[in-house]
Amino acid sequence: MNMTSELSLANLNHLAEKYLERISLAKDISELEQVYQAAFSRKSGEISNIMHELKDLAPDKKKEIAPYAQDLRQKIETALANKKIQLGDVSQDQTFFDATVPSKDSGRGHIHPATQVIWEIEDFFRSLGFMILDGPEVDSTFFNFEGVNIPKDHPARDMQDTFYLDENIALRPHTSNCQVRAMREYGAPLRAIVPGRCYRNENRDARHEHTFLQFEGFMIDEGISIANFRDVIDQFFKRFINEKTETRIRPGYFPFVEPGFEFDFKCFCDGFCGLCKGTGWIEFGGAGMIHPNVLKHGHIDPDKFSGWAFGFGPERLAMIRKQIPDLRLFRSGDLRFLEQF
Ligand code: DAH
Repeated sequence: MNMTSELSLANLNHLAEKYLERISLAKDISELEQVYQAAFSRKSGEISNIMHELKDLAPDKKKEIAPYAQDLRQKIETALANKKIQLGDVSQDQTFFDATVPSKDSGRGHIHPATQVIWEIEDFFRSLGFMILDGPEVDSTFFNFEGVNIPKDHPARDMQDTFYLDENIALRPHTSNCQVRAMREYGAPLRAIVPGRCYRNENRDARHEHTFLQFEGFMIDEGISIANFRDVIDQFFKRFINEKTETRIRPGYFPFVEPGFEFDFKCFCDGFCGLCKGTGWIEFGGAGMIHPNVLKHGHIDPDKFSGWAFGFGPERLAMIRKQIPDLRLFRSGDLRFLEQF
């Protein structure tokens, strides 16, 4: 049989009949698999060969025959797929794929618990007139460190140990990298928060992760003082913890603020509990009055403007409110965890 006779229309029709009949008579999956191989096996499948030979036909002939050959192939594929469903073997189907078979219902997802709390926090600050800004997760050592008053060789760089791409570029260890960027972009007065992912070279445990979220916040204007910070943070805890909670600040050191402090809120317990370890207070974040050097790097005149800044981890807030025991769960991808929220 020469090539042209094989590729005649009559021959294609004959093949169609032959295969459709073999498919309809197949009694089980292995018989159907044999039909599939006879038609489509790469080396010797009759239909595969025809599709291959089409390429070598003279253009006129190709134009005439190709649509019929395509049609033939499709008919046989569809018949195979339908028969496979009829024989009850769809799930293990490796050889051919029928896009019309409805998928198993995999359920509807929902917003990740960390994102839920981020959105809530953003709403709160938006209602107080804060902008919500975004910034780079891979940033220069200037914005990560020098810009926020952590010079080279300063011991504070150990606390912020991160992953370096080269000597001058690193994954940001805190969202404070956006302070100077925001000041340069928007000038003063300025009220902004920056939520985002940060990275540190940490030994992982229930409270430390190499990848975690932070919220940076700052308010800069003429005559801003710690009193403004206390007011904002009081309202924050009333909204996110409860109406009755109290706030406290205590001295703390961060190179980018002067004075610097840490801020806590009053624990839910009456006496001893694991969360506050019997102290009655829960440590929440760091804050302070923005250091004049940082304002200068941001091209803001420290003699005219002052401001406060804070940083905290929203995952910690979610952990406290929803009694999540381990920070690592957030990035575990474990549905048993995620489905609880
Ligand atoms: N960047 C600090 C950290 O990652 C958190 C922080 C502390 C941010 C004090 C601030 C601040 O803006 O004023 O540990």
